[in-house]
Amino acid sequence: MHSIALYNNKGGVGKSTLTFFMADFLASVRVAGRPLRVLVMDLDAQGSSSTALLGEELARQARAEARTIGHLAMQLAQGRQPDLRPFLLLRPSSLRGHPPLPAVTVLLPERESIFNFDANPLHTLTLFARTLKPLLLPHFDIVLLDLPGNLDERHLLAVNALVMSDSLVIPMEPTRLALHALPETLRMIRYAQEHGQGCPVCLGILLNRTDKRSRQFRLHAPAIVRLLQEVQIPCFNNYLPNAPELANATDDTLAFTSLKDRYGSYYPHVKKVVSELFDRWQTRMPA
Ligand SMILES: Nc1ncnc2c1ncn2[C@@H]1O[C@H](COP(=O)(O)OP(=O)(O)OP(=O)(O)O)[C@@H](O)[C@H]1O
Ligand SMILES: [Mg+2]
Repeated sequence: MHSIALYNNKGGVGKSTLTFFMADFLASVRVAGRPLRVLVMDLDAQGSSSTALLGEELARQARAEARTIGHLAMQLAQGRQPDLRPFLLLRPSSLRGHPPLPAVTVLLPERESIFNFDANPLHTLTLFARTLKPLLLPHFDIVLLDLPGNLDERHLLAVNALVMSDSLVIPMEPTRLALHALPETLRMIRYAQEHGQGCPVCLGILLNRTDKRSRQFRLHAPAIVRLLQEVQIPCFNNYLPNAPELANATDDTLAFTSLKDRYGSYYPHVKKVVSELFDRWQTRMPA
């Protein structure tokens, strides 16, 4: 099992969009005669990626039945061995008028702050790494963790999720505003790494909404390259283009991934990014 966090403290940079397109693509890949088993853990209360994958109705119903990461975490914190089945929500396998969808499993985010870790934060920041990760291991090949923006040390579920991740990708737009948010993002990553014995390994910045021929990119590229050299974070060679079709379709939920043909300029880049991501992982981590 390999767990990959998508995180940038800046909001709206494309974390959730990339999460569900990556999930959709990875779940369509067959390895050793069977499709990869993909889990999306949505840590953002907004629920963008989980709602897009499950549909609003299913997400609402499961939330009403307390089948969320927060409720699962409470059982783990109480030292119980939870039955994972009620929490693992399956994306509907088909949508009328569309080809079948590859199976993706989803863990729903917490909306209310029902979950309070008590006294020992050192102990509890590794709760997911120690207890949830081994439970997921036999069931999944890939776990994608969709992190919220505006994260700080108080967001214990999200920090737990970072600490349990093997690797991490930072989606970012090539703008000056996005550059300003980077130091805080890196600070939170280091905070997680202190608790996660070096994990997650940061695989690099992934540029989103990028047109390398555009004036804006040429304007900001030198500053981005300089900053990345300073902080010693690599940048993915592949990038995600600006796809206006995506921005115009935010209210589509279930239909979204099944209509990926419509997102022709984005989806082929996701495939290249996934391939680069695993290459990077293999070169960063000794076998
Ligand atoms: N490459 C792209 N081209 C055009 N629009 C995009 C692209 N990537 C993302 N978007 C759009 O930008 C908006 C924000 O994307 P998304 O929700 O994935 O960002 P996020 O980083 O998860 O945001 P948040 O921090 O709020 O969770 C969405 O409307 C999405 O459809
Ligand atoms: Mg998001």
